Amino acid sequence: MPTHGEAPFRALVAAFYRRIPSDPILGPMYPEDDLAGAEQRLADFVVQRLGGAPVYSQKRGHPRLRMRHAPFPVDRAARDRWMLLMRHALGESDLPDDAKRGLDAFLGDVATFLINR
Ligand code: HEM
Repeated sequence: MPTHGEAPFRALVAAFYRRIPSDPILGPMYPEDDLAGAEQRLADFVVQRLGGAPVYSQKRGHPRLRMRHAPFPVDRAARDRWMLLMRHALGESDLPDDAKRGLDAFLGDVATFLINR
């Protein structure tokens, strides 16, 4: 986080969420009336996880990501689509390539861990 600041990570998550509403697998899972809130939750989480301000935990408590994803049907196809949209967002990002590679690996691991059916 100290190297890049929060802005490019928030921009990345915004680019990801711009792709959500029109996606046939993921679109229906996300709250239509609170996409801005969902975007903020993921951005806060990513920023905190990378060593930035602990805003996610202040607002939401312990992440408990598997529990929080339990209501959603995260199968292999949903996981792969989530990563595909994230890779498109990474493709638009100004972050340096090493940061992109690190994020791709970290997010891919978490996404696999969240598969629940
Ligand atoms: C594997 C595919 C994934 C699917 C289908 C998925 C789906 C969802 C959905 C539908 C929500 C609810 C939106 C909201 O109102 O906040 C959500 C929330 C969230 N997701 Fe995912 N997600 C996936 C992967 C990930 C990954 C890889 C991460 C982290 C690196 C992540 C982190 C979060 C966080 C932090 C929240 C907000 C939790 C809260 O505080 O309530 N998700 N996800």
